[in-house]
Amino acid sequence: MIDLRSDTLTKPTEAMRAAMARAEVGDDVYGEDPTVRALEERVAGLFGHEDALFTPTGSLANVLAVGLLVVPGQEVLCEASAHIARAELGAHGAVSGVTMRTWIHPTGGFDLDVVRSLVAPDMGPFFVRTAAIAVENTHNFAGGAVVGIEDLQALRGLADEAGVAVHVDGARLWNAHVATGTPLAAYGAVADSLAVCLSKGLGAPVGSLVVGSAEAMTEARVRRKRLGGGMRQVGILAAAGLHALDQHVERLADDHDRARLLAEAVGVDPAGVHTNIVVLDHDDAPGYVARAREAGVLVSAVGPRTVRFVTHLDVSRADAEKAASVLAGL
Ligand SMILES: Cc1ncc(COP(=O)(O)O)c(C=O)c1O
Repeated sequence: MIDLRSDTLTKPTEAMRAAMARAEVGDDVYGEDPTVRALEERVAGLFGHEDALFTPTGSLANVLAVGLLVVPGQEVLCEASAHIARAELGAHGAVSGVTMRTWIHPTGGFDLDVVRSLVAPDMGPFFVRTAAIAVENTHNFAGGAVVGIEDLQALRGLADEAGVAVHVDGARLWNAHVATGTPLAAYGAVADSLAVCLSKGLGAPVGSLVVGSAEAMTEARVRRKRLGGGMRQVGILAAAGLHALDQHVERLADDHDRARLLAEAVGVDPAGVHTNIVVLDHDDAPGYVARAREAGVLVSAVGPRTVRFVTHLDVSRADAEKAASVLAGL
């Protein structure tokens, strides 16, 4: 089977497992795990922020970050198919008391005028106040689309004028960085906080980070523990993340090439495939998924008429070529 369902399905490489086995560890709730600390400092530095906090999941990283920017009863604005809106199971409301309003954009980005029209200032006891704007980059359900740095800089300007914060859900920001050459620090400069994942394209088994100010990360550490996310000798996992940062960032370009190969095979315009995700419109997505499976390729239906293919570390060029010929035949 060639598995194109998600880039979360990767298995740690032998070299990554060796790095994990060698990791120096301590109790991270006591702040004594040197490998976790090294990872947090490295990721904070990459984005030009003061600090970072290791979390088990990207969802928890987003919940901590947004919850720090938006107090209960205030709102975050985001695109309607953003992961925080669709796929975090209402955590921002259920856990943090955050409300949400959304805009719709075909490639998961934004129209600045639309965002401007949504931002609600403090109107005392009459309207919900906008406290933050969240942007997902790359955008998962929009097919791994990149939100350009110029657009993000313009959004930063708008946020500054309006006195609201910006959060970047950068679960796959590494892909955007490799696809565009935009320095990670440039993404960091437009955001009050970021969430980044090691467990997607980078191939680590577990792990994400929230990135932000030292003060925000101190509070995030408290909230992470409150939610049951304080972990102990977790340097074993942080070591996988450090290894992934050393070895698996630049190679994301291979995933992007393989995604374009798949796109061409199924008649999707490869120019619209920015990174490692291909979205195909099909009248019967579940039927397509079943037929692909019979032919040896696992793909997923992310809507009744939407099929998704994702390339990753465990899909070689030969796998991608084979999958392309199978999918072209469907
Ligand atoms: C854009 C985006 N943000 C956040 C997440 C959440 O990550 P996790 O599955 O680690 O909670 C995902 C997961 O796929 C995602 O695609």
